Amino acid sequence: MTRKPAGIDAIAFHGPRCYLDMSDLAQARDVDPDKYRLGLGQTQMAVATPCEDTVTMATVAAHRALDRFGIDPGEIGTLIVGTETGVDHSKPVAVYVHEMLGLAQNCRTFETKHACYGAMAGLTSALDWIAAGRARGRKALVIASDIARYGIKTAGEPTQGAGAVAMIVGADPRLVELDSDTFGDYTRQVMDFWRPLYSKYAFADGHYSIECYLAAFTGAWRDACEQAGSWDRLRLEALDACFYHVPFVKMARKAHLRHCETEWGEAITRADADMAARVRTSYDAQVAPWLELNSVVGNIYTGSLFLAMADYLRKLTPEREGRRLSLFSYGSGCGAAFGTGVVSGGATASRNLVDPAVHLDSRVRLDIDRYEQLIRACETADHNEEPYPDPADWGLDKGLYYVGTRDHVRQYTGSPAETL
Ligand code: CAA
Repeated sequence: MTRKPAGIDAIAFHGPRCYLDMSDLAQARDVDPDKYRLGLGQTQMAVATPCEDTVTMATVAAHRALDRFGIDPGEIGTLIVGTETGVDHSKPVAVYVHEMLGLAQNCRTFETKHACYGAMAGLTSALDWIAAGRARGRKALVIASDIARYGIKTAGEPTQGAGAVAMIVGADPRLVELDSDTFGDYTRQVMDFWRPLYSKYAFADGHYSIECYLAAFTGAWRDACEQAGSWDRLRLEALDACFYHVPFVKMARKAHLRHCETEWGEAITRADADMAARVRTSYDAQVAPWLELNSVVGNIYTGSLFLAMADYLRKLTPEREGRRLSLFSYGSGCGAAFGTGVVSGGATASRNLVDPAVHLDSRVRLDIDRYEQLIRACETADHNEEPYPDPADWGLDKGLYYVGTRDHVRQYTGSPAETL
């Protein structure tokens, strides 16, 4: 029996209302602005207010994907939220989203966690659910939603961000058909990045985490090659675009260098001018053009890889349809996957539906004092019976917002449809 292709039928992004310009952060921290702009590749960083959490961002992104792509919530048979910044040790973010979107009671609903790999784990589970014949014509909603926070004046501070990417996964997808038989996996216990139960902030052994990420790329890529059987579909030459997990834009450049080295079988240094030029040409064509959203949003953990894909899809042109893409997801700790897909025929017709420009253009620039005030306010915003955070205090108007915890129950107000 030949299986219908399955993959991404709809995708949408939603992030916080406010952002910090990296030049303001550099000035406040007495750092050369080029370190953030060129050294890390970041120009802006999304910052969530105390009234925007993993639940509100996930719900708004999912509502946007359903609404823009004309999908009835009743068609969703699986809902998975990948997050490493959930709101409860027991209750999944996904079940709040399930209620707020009005999904069916026979929709299976859960949360996945493995640092930034959580949403990729959700995506591959959704593909397996479809391949196993359990979907019964329904679709899966997979959401990546996170607030990346290391704290004021830490080394990780310029690599923060926040946002959610929602993807609707089904048979005969309108955007990207995924090669579910070529996903390669990798797992290794390492302490490169973690967030203990008692901490709001992540801890990272930053430079070591970069080494772990690159080692994981090699491992997952090799496994994908073994899975694929036909090596042709994985070759860089066969790829129109390569998407990587993007904790900061420069990391995608490092990942692509490792991708080239792994495939070409040699370490490439600047001293080898010809090979270095070959890597640069490949990076400029296959990676750099799709990092614009990441550079103004920052790290969104589980969603970073898919934000790069959304950037590609919003810029799609008909000649790219039918071309192959690669996806690499890395979650610290660590788990990783490398896989491929193909741009669906006719996908260009949906590119405007993917574009988050209206939302991003409406964002408000914070000054450094307001940013620090906001970060401190978030530290206690979910404590029981604390003074309730008021969206108006943070310049938020209509929309879906978190408004405090009463009697140990999180409270929300507004609706996803009203959120800009
Ligand atoms: N002009 C231009 N470039 C400059 C510069 C200047 N004035 N000053 C420094 N740079 C360059 C450096 O040369 C360096 O580039 P290379 O890496 O290409 O050499 C870059 O800017 C960063 O400089 P440093 O390495 O000195 O920066 P740092 O020590 O302050 O830390 C960091 C950088 C390790 C990424 C830190 O921000 C951090 O710990 N971030 C959190 C962890 C993280 O993001 N890890 C990524 C891999 S793990 C993962 O991906 C999972 C996840 O989401 C967390």
